[in-house]
Amino acid sequence: MGRLSVDLCGITLDNPVIPASGTFGYGYEFAGLYDINCLGTFSFKGTTRHPRFGNPTPRIAEAPAGMLNSVGLQNPGVEKVISEELPKLKKCFRKPVMANVSGFSVEDYAYTCALLDKEEQVGWLEVNVSCPNVHGGGMSFGTDPKAAAQVVRAVKAVTKKPVILKLTPNVTDIVSVALACQEAGADGLSLINTLLGMRLDLRTRKPILANTMGGLSGPAVFPVALRMVYQVAGAVSIPVVGMGGVSSAADVIEMMLAGAAAVEVGAANLTDPFACKKIIDDLPAEMDKYGIERLSDIIGGGHAWEKT
Ligand SMILES: Cc1cc2nc3c(=O)[nH]c(=O)nc-3n(C[C@H](O)[C@H](O)[C@H](O)COP(=O)(O)O)c2cc1C
Repeated sequence: MGRLSVDLCGITLDNPVIPASGTFGYGYEFAGLYDINCLGTFSFKGTTRHPRFGNPTPRIAEAPAGMLNSVGLQNPGVEKVISEELPKLKKCFRKPVMANVSGFSVEDYAYTCALLDKEEQVGWLEVNVSCPNVHGGGMSFGTDPKAAAQVVRAVKAVTKKPVILKLTPNVTDIVSVALACQEAGADGLSLINTLLGMRLDLRTRKPILANTMGGLSGPAVFPVALRMVYQVAGAVSIPVVGMGGVSSAADVIEMMLAGAAAVEVGAANLTDPFACKKIIDDLPAEMDKYGIERLSDIIGGGHAWEKT
């Protein structure tokens, strides 16, 4: 194992850096820019049972040190992802990939995960529970510990691969949702998804986003994300993947100290498509600065002071 390598649910990553879902397509789109095999892995675009056109435009708005998006899970649907996107990825990526799955009912999640589970290149299923539950009054699954646990149980029943539940930060107590997912059998957790936000256009006095509201991400959310990763990692015994505003090697180290076993990078890929490669290249020098020999040694190191 190298200096940067980490374990995520039994699979070794060469380094902990993972482009986050929705910001790295199905991977092959970036392969023309650099060899994407330098990544730990990446999480592909949120995939659903049926194809989705996404929300009307405009669906991106700027914010100080961040951005709002209301893309609305645009994707070709799981069958086309398997028949058209994954074969293209296979030609340029030789590592296991993280399959990001969204759904609007428990059955949707189970259906999509069962199909992706059969794909050899899929290493982990990252189940995004930030979507509205159409049978539960439209509230997102991830805001209710019971609904989130129901999704975990349904997915675990149809898959053999590690299931990582991706949590929403739009809750009062993220630890209760994390514990419910762990108890229901989740193999890992990833957090945070975007924070619900909004902008108004001063001239038209109307929302900038056609969908009125959208998800805030980017460096602006880093301290909120770090706080939630710290709280969740301090409460659960399964691995936590940290994300939210990470844009440098120092941010990766801080997330790992908070308890992240691996780290996803989202909005930074949209401002610089080389962001993840640069972070990986910068990690050894940043580790030297803080006397870190192996990254895996520091996971959760930011909790040690609590016992003093
Ligand atoms: C344009 C865009 C699209 C996204 N699409 C998805 C998605 O399909 N599924 C998902 O789980 N998260 C999605 N996310 C959330 C990111 O994966 C990540 O959780 C969030 O942006 C926080 O990380 P960041 O601050 O580094 O961007 C999306 C984010 C952005 C900016």
